[in-house]
Amino acid sequence: MGYVGEADTTQVLLEGLARLEYRGYDSAGIAVVAADGIASRKRGGKLKVLRSSLEDSPLPDSSAGIGHTRWATHGGPTDENAHPHLGDDGKLALIHNGIIENFSALREELAADGVTFLSETDSEAAALLLGRYVRETGDLTKAMQQLVQRLEGQFTLLATHVDHPGVVVGACHNSPLLIGFGEGENFLGSDVSAFVKYTKKAEALGNDQIVTIRASDINVTDFNGKPVTDNKKFEITWDAAEAEKGGWPSFMAKEISEGPEAIRNTLRARIEDGVIALGENETLTDEQLKNLDRIIIVACGTASYSAMAGEYAIEEWARVPVEVELAHEFRYSNPVLTENTLVISISQSGETMDTKMAVQYAAEHGAHTLAICNTQGSTIPRESDAVLYIHAGPEVAVASTKAFLAQVVGQLLFGLHLARVRGTMTDDEIRTVTADLEALPEQLAFTLENADDVRELAHWMSDTRSVLFLGRNVGYPVALEGALKLKEISYIHAEGFAGGELKHGPIALIEPGQVVFVVVPSPRTQPTMHSKLISNIQEIRARGARVIAVAEEGDAAVLPYADIVLRVGTTHPMLSAVLSVVPLHLFALELASAKGLDVDQPRNLAKSVTVE
Ligand code: F6R
Repeated sequence: MGYVGEADTTQVLLEGLARLEYRGYDSAGIAVVAADGIASRKRGGKLKVLRSSLEDSPLPDSSAGIGHTRWATHGGPTDENAHPHLGDDGKLALIHNGIIENFSALREELAADGVTFLSETDSEAAALLLGRYVRETGDLTKAMQQLVQRLEGQFTLLATHVDHPGVVVGACHNSPLLIGFGEGENFLGSDVSAFVKYTKKAEALGNDQIVTIRASDINVTDFNGKPVTDNKKFEITWDAAEAEKGGWPSFMAKEISEGPEAIRNTLRARIEDGVIALGENETLTDEQLKNLDRIIIVACGTASYSAMAGEYAIEEWARVPVEVELAHEFRYSNPVLTENTLVISISQSGETMDTKMAVQYAAEHGAHTLAICNTQGSTIPRESDAVLYIHAGPEVAVASTKAFLAQVVGQLLFGLHLARVRGTMTDDEIRTVTADLEALPEQLAFTLENADDVRELAHWMSDTRSVLFLGRNVGYPVALEGALKLKEISYIHAEGFAGGELKHGPIALIEPGQVVFVVVPSPRTQPTMHSKLISNIQEIRARGARVIAVAEEGDAAVLPYADIVLRVGTTHPMLSAVLSVVPLHLFALELASAKGLDVDQPRNLAKSVTVE
């Protein structure tokens, strides 16, 4: 984050960093331009370590400063490796997101000049080189132009210099940077949450641009210094308060509780008279949709499991072949892409580097691209042909919950729209699904209000060391998501399997007492799959497993086979992932809380994974 203005710079930066901490939280630091030079403080550990150091000995007043929270790539999370890094004999400070791939060559070049390094980071080389260019050009912005020509990899950089007081200069290449326009003050942030408390007016820098901010002036150029005037300003549509805990014990608990509202917002204004009404930029033209012969959905982690749930529905409804690819595998697999391929990306943050690179690859190879995204103004939607925002509201906890639900619903809306355009479903058929879609928020709210059994179960199981999850069809990605959430925040070994796969190996894991969650399909709408899964349950119970079934209300057939049954509402089978995942999200939250772990900031992770 960067700030110029008359407010208390350190406080503004600390507040912004608290909102950005989800991007990385293994160290943090701040530098301000003071009368007698750069004053900087940086600490390994979470932001609170830096905050308490600043309370003990505050930085001087200043009208410009930069602040950073880190997710370590090069060098461990120590005080020395934390940003900012200094250059020009301590006269400038620089912070960096991303990876500088040619950093070894740059370090060697600087070392040959007799420069000494104080950290193991790639970023310090950029700070030291910038110092050299400031000395040569006498101008921070021009120096930044020279620096970016030397860097390979991807980066957002912010810098400030004592000889240029009241100025922060930023640059970005394949990594986000946004401007916040204030009154007599201006902001930079890698996400609007950094400055949403102060201004709702924002603009995202395009790729390969440099910005210079002063209290009353903002200047954007390309990497060669040519002015840029066609970036689009936008209004941030949510409040700072929405990204606060508001009395909840954790962001994750709050965000799970916001599931019903998230879905309401995804559906809002997109269903008219029971059929889907997507906006012009929210999908491709009818002509393009009719010509599609293949859809590939690219995503990572939880978003990829939502994609798997979407895949079943889109394929079933629109009769187009759909496949899901992990974004980081996709672009190295030489995929077959044509002008009749649609690559859909799913990303909460809109900044996941792996997903972004997959979208760029798809566009370069002639495919259409559609982003299903939560974060307004983020990079992936900006680089896609169309964008369907899910409007789930800010998601701060590292473990994604409400966004998963809304990502599935976003794909369902698209699938129904596609089916209508391609004539594979009648309006009446679509109406039966949209009626179920509109009922989801109420059903979810009911599940959340009646979740005491999940809570008790989680507390009772807090010493468990291994949990398995089974599902079939749309229940399979739910099983994968249940397992990911558990390992991610409670550090318990957890695996998800497709029910039919058990006998091909995983059943060897079953020993007496092994807990297995089973996502049971509806006996009404998926009777064959229901009975197949009941057979799977019998196979594992015969070997001593304890079975916790997530089953539809009224499914009495499951009762004799499960030790515990967690109930969810009845819905269309393609919508069922949205309901059945919620007990698993709650279970992970409660179990990690019972273990006394930090559910919002689990170890080793970051919310927005902006490196490959
Ligand atoms: C897990 C989780 C991650 C993200 C993944 C993609 O709870 O949140 O697996 O789903 O890193 O992130 P986005 O959706 O921002 O692209």
